Amino acid sequence: MDYSLNTKCVQAGYTPGNGEPRQIPIIQSTTYKYDTSEDMGKLFDLEAEGYFYSRLQNPTNDYVAAKITALEGGTAGMLTSSGQAANFFALFNICEAGSHIVASSSIYGGTYNLIDVTLKKMGVESTFVAPDCTEEELNAAFRDNTRAVFGESIANPALTVLDIEKFAKAAHAHGVPLIVDNTFPTPVNLRPFAWGADIVTHSTTKYMDGHGAALGGAIIDSGKFDWMAHADKFPGLCTPDESYHGITYAEKFGKEGAFITKCTSQLMRDLGCVQSPQNAFILNLGLESLHVRMPRHVENGQAVAEFLEQHEKVEFVNYPTLPSNKYYELAKKYLPNGGCGVVSFELKGGRKAAEKFMKNLKLAAIETHVADARTCCLNPATSTHRQMNDEQLAAAGVPAGLIRISCGLEDKKDLIADIAQALDAI
Ligand SMILES: Cc1ncc(COP(=O)(O)O)c(C=O)c1O
Repeated sequence: MDYSLNTKCVQAGYTPGNGEPRQIPIIQSTTYKYDTSEDMGKLFDLEAEGYFYSRLQNPTNDYVAAKITALEGGTAGMLTSSGQAANFFALFNICEAGSHIVASSSIYGGTYNLIDVTLKKMGVESTFVAPDCTEEELNAAFRDNTRAVFGESIANPALTVLDIEKFAKAAHAHGVPLIVDNTFPTPVNLRPFAWGADIVTHSTTKYMDGHGAALGGAIIDSGKFDWMAHADKFPGLCTPDESYHGITYAEKFGKEGAFITKCTSQLMRDLGCVQSPQNAFILNLGLESLHVRMPRHVENGQAVAEFLEQHEKVEFVNYPTLPSNKYYELAKKYLPNGGCGVVSFELKGGRKAAEKFMKNLKLAAIETHVADARTCCLNPATSTHRQMNDEQLAAAGVPAGLIRISCGLEDKKDLIADIAQALDAI
């Protein structure tokens, strides 16, 4: 039976048998015991499913990954130690030295850095395109060696809404997958696979955990991308892997399983960015209430954005579901129930005013974090985006005086009163 998303948040991924624990068990074990070497050998040959070492996989993680896979409507998923690891693994699973990535320029600063600096050092080139570029401009960014297109469904912190259909169409016309980081709306508010995305990533550190308690990431495969139809571009998936006795992932595990199996058995084996089972357990507690929390985050975000928009000390407000917003039409299409609780805005008076405002907030804390039960705020130019120069900041839609406020689950009346008194103090 296909349950609703609300029910999946609570119960998907783990179904205890008779007399088994009701809550997902934390399998706090690095290793697993087998009766014969032959049994274990089958795991190393990917002939049998199972666990042999928690650097690659752990049952607790797999229960939780299965829940997120169900929420996104995918066929396979895995947890990583962080959102950074999720995006790195998703890209590096199909890119290598000599490959090229097309990415939206409006993405989280850490991911921009990952693509523009660290992957470049590994020989992977990239071209950034404005999220609002025309189809022509987008298509012109592709090269023969392009292997992936990347964007954020709602960008952190610029809050641009990705036209997923436009990006998916261009990616598919060039025979490569679209990877969408869906951290901000979560599958409660947007499911990118329904619009043509092929792989979804998450920083589960944000709304999915939702309590600022556990760092983590996730990669989910839609199972729709036909790797074999573009075998020349994806030799890692479509030719034998000598480190697994000549297995060809796309043949053995099909469209539905190849991407995640390769990512787990190669990248986790060699790089080891696995989520701890303790964190996976905490993440699952967050997921159980995700469908209840997201509407409240949206309600608070909308109320705060509307308040800020009419305030005389505010230069502009970025919140996609404000009718005045540049992305309002895209938001209506992709985010009919709202996006998230993150609002960004610029104060008249730039950096100085921003500093004063933040200092005077009482409920909202200054944190390098978003998407938490407790309201927090940040000036990206001096923190998450400080590696970018002014030109890059402008391209990413993050002017130096921008404030990002992440509306938590408090009462919106109290949040607005706190913001109002901090504005008065400027
Ligand atoms: C949209 C997005 N993707 C990825 C990341 C990186 O996630 P993590 O901090 O869990 O490594 C972040 C972090 O803020 C983010 O906002």
